[in-house]
Amino acid sequence: MDSLVKNFHFSLAMDSKWDCLLWFLLFVGLFKSLGFLWRTGLVIAQTFLIPGKSLSLFGVKSAWAVVTGASDGIGREFALQLGAAGFNVVLMARNESALKELATEIEQKSGVSTKIHLIDFTKTNEDSYAAITEQLSSLDIGVLVNNVGCGHSISADFVDVSQQEFGDIVAVNVTANVRVTRVILPMMIKRSAKSVKNRGLIINVGSFSGAVPIPMLQTYSATKAFLATFSTALAEEVRQHRITVEHLNAYFIVTKLSKISRTSLFVPTAKPYVAAVLSKIGLACGAAYTGRPNTSSPFWGHAVLDWYINSFPGGPSSFIETSFRMQRGLRASRLRKLEREKNAQH
Ligand SMILES: NC(=O)c1ccc[n+]([C@@H]2O[C@H](COP(=O)([O-])OP(=O)(O)OC[C@H]3O[C@@H](n4cnc5c(N)ncnc54)[C@H](OP(=O)(O)O)[C@@H]3O)[C@@H](O)[C@H]2O)c1
Repeated sequence: MDSLVKNFHFSLAMDSKWDCLLWFLLFVGLFKSLGFLWRTGLVIAQTFLIPGKSLSLFGVKSAWAVVTGASDGIGREFALQLGAAGFNVVLMARNESALKELATEIEQKSGVSTKIHLIDFTKTNEDSYAAITEQLSSLDIGVLVNNVGCGHSISADFVDVSQQEFGDIVAVNVTANVRVTRVILPMMIKRSAKSVKNRGLIINVGSFSGAVPIPMLQTYSATKAFLATFSTALAEEVRQHRITVEHLNAYFIVTKLSKISRTSLFVPTAKPYVAAVLSKIGLACGAAYTGRPNTSSPFWGHAVLDWYINSFPGGPSSFIETSFRMQRGLRASRLRKLEREKNAQH
């Protein structure tokens, strides 16, 4: 009889232990599932349903937008679409004829004013930034698009990246963005102090490679990680001046830099990409899944990719090895192409 009672107590104790564990696991599972559903719902709502802040908040009539890297690709589209929204536009890049042509196109299509600023961000010194200050200081600047960027000529191990290429990528992707912001931000702050109606917008064109480290594009990838962190920190500082900083976590877009010439569901041309950005200001869209402050993946295909990469067990870091394999393949096929071109010349 005694042993029967003992066994009964033992199995009761065991049952309650297992019950507790089961309840704990159920609770954790429920908590995780609710979190997943909530964050996925946010991505869907922000990407497909909720409109972003209106561009007019940043002062359309008589206000200026400054776009770096405006002669081609994404920057060119920013300039065209900001002009169409009523902003006067300052265009910065190296290619004078492309900038002049674009300036004429914007003026004719949108009836706004334009200015051109020729600059090679790999060859700047203090005078270069003084010249930007001088040209812009009298303008009422509502929007800055830090778009300029350059990548590696070919995927390569870091030991094989030339000092020149390393220096150029850092100069364009880091120094230019920071220095142009440093020139324009005081102007925006002064402007916002004049009236509570004045707001500013700084768009920093980043890349998913700042979140998913890409071997063989290590320098580009690291400069984009810098931009993400810089943007987030800056956003918090300037919020008090009614200035919004938005860091774009861009995935692939058809441009010269990406070397992609065909569109797909996840690879748009610059036009729909920029249209998505400008219609979703202030919304994280795909980046809402992980809630990275002031970061946004507004184009729907990119939002889906951002959601996928971040909801994947292990997150962005799970893709490093795959990226490495991809880059090795890309390097091999690019070298083969270069070889074919060389042979064709002989
Ligand atoms: N395309 C993509 O898949 C992708 C993905 C993620 C992020 N992004 C980012 O998007 C931004 C724009 O890239 P994109 O794809 O539009 O590239 P793009 O078509 O090659 O255009 C780059 C622009 O930057 C200018 N630029 C390049 N080097 C310069 C320099 N040293 N000094 C002054 N201007 C310079 C170019 O004009 P000039 O030659 O006339 O100077 C051009 O206007 C970059 O920050 C890039 O990292 C692109």
